[in-house]
Amino acid sequence: MPLTESLVLDALKVVMDPDLHRDIVTLGFVRDVVIEGGQVSFTINLTTPACPVKEELKAQAEAAVQGIEGVTSVQIEMTATVRSRPSEAEDLLPDVANVIAIASGKGGVGKSTVTVNLAVALAQKGARVGILDADVYGPSVPLLLGAQNEKPFTEGQKIVPVFRFGVHTMSIGYLLDDDQAVLWRGPMVAGTVRQLLADVNWGTLDYLLVDLPPGTGDAPMSLAQLVPLTGVVIVSTPHNVAANIAGKAVQLFKRLNSPILGVVENMGVLVDPVTGAETRMFSGLSGEDLANQLKVPYLGSVPFDPQVSQAGDQGIPAVVAYPQSAQADALKEIAGRLAQQASIKAMTS
Ligand SMILES: Nc1ncnc2c1ncn2[C@@H]1O[C@H](COP(=O)(O)OP(=O)(O)O)[C@@H](O)[C@H]1O
Ligand SMILES: [Mg+2]
Repeated sequence: MPLTESLVLDALKVVMDPDLHRDIVTLGFVRDVVIEGGQVSFTINLTTPACPVKEELKAQAEAAVQGIEGVTSVQIEMTATVRSRPSEAEDLLPDVANVIAIASGKGGVGKSTVTVNLAVALAQKGARVGILDADVYGPSVPLLLGAQNEKPFTEGQKIVPVFRFGVHTMSIGYLLDDDQAVLWRGPMVAGTVRQLLADVNWGTLDYLLVDLPPGTGDAPMSLAQLVPLTGVVIVSTPHNVAANIAGKAVQLFKRLNSPILGVVENMGVLVDPVTGAETRMFSGLSGEDLANQLKVPYLGSVPFDPQVSQAGDQGIPAVVAYPQSAQADALKEIAGRLAQQASIKAMTS
């Protein structure tokens, strides 16, 4: 039987995307099949460059096509096109595929640290990423990226984001002087969030991560009303109090019709640098238990490590400063799972 494109596509139907529960041919991921003698080449176009099962899918596809009679070699190119959230006509950010809010019940759980590291990890995978620091009460993104002295300039009518570690960033912190105290009232918060979305030239992005102020105040409400969110990530530490208010934040977003992409536990475990053994630091509700209780995905746990804190203080995200550490590994894995959940939401809504 001569080797044909349909034989190749039939063979590839055994390769299932584990998240979307359909095969890669039905999903339209397989492109540009070229057959020359026994040599087969094609492209698999995934939904995110940060796909955690990329190598697995490639290996399965290769094996499936190798198994066809007459095939002598298989060449696969792995690419990705990030799928867009459902968008409306008056969308403030039409060129941003995914807007993902990072929320927490209370402050100090490491929300900003996690946001910055996830953003840089996604950029390292080849995604186009931005961070909007919407924590008007404690904007810390500039400090965490060592960019506190940057003054963004405007081009045309719009503010140009500050580019750091591969990520486009905007924060009220760039626009205020260090000693400028602001007494924020609700409408001002809403107005500022709107400006940070609409008056900034975000360009074309795959992921815009929004670092929200802690709790369930004006910023999450305004954000969810101003742009359709792909979803929300909840950062929590395993104290019962923190977990409890994290639950309240989840309820708010559910009411606002914003899907919860998952829970990240921070500072829940200590990792022994020599043996790699993990010790849980608190007896409170773990991130995994919280995710189960809320019936949302669990994205993973970032261990407690003084290095993470020091890296932040020095303005270098841990995934850059300590790329080989357990915490960098955890953050990169969580970034992959987050991208995966965003793809699922975009592909199934
Ligand atoms: N995994 C971690 N290990 C050690 N320290 C951490 C970790 N995550 C955050 N921190 C530290 O905890 C403090 C609060 O973090 P931050 O990201 O500012 O929290 P939030 O944005 O929730 O208020 C900072 O000093 C930060 O360096
Ligand atoms: Mg913060």
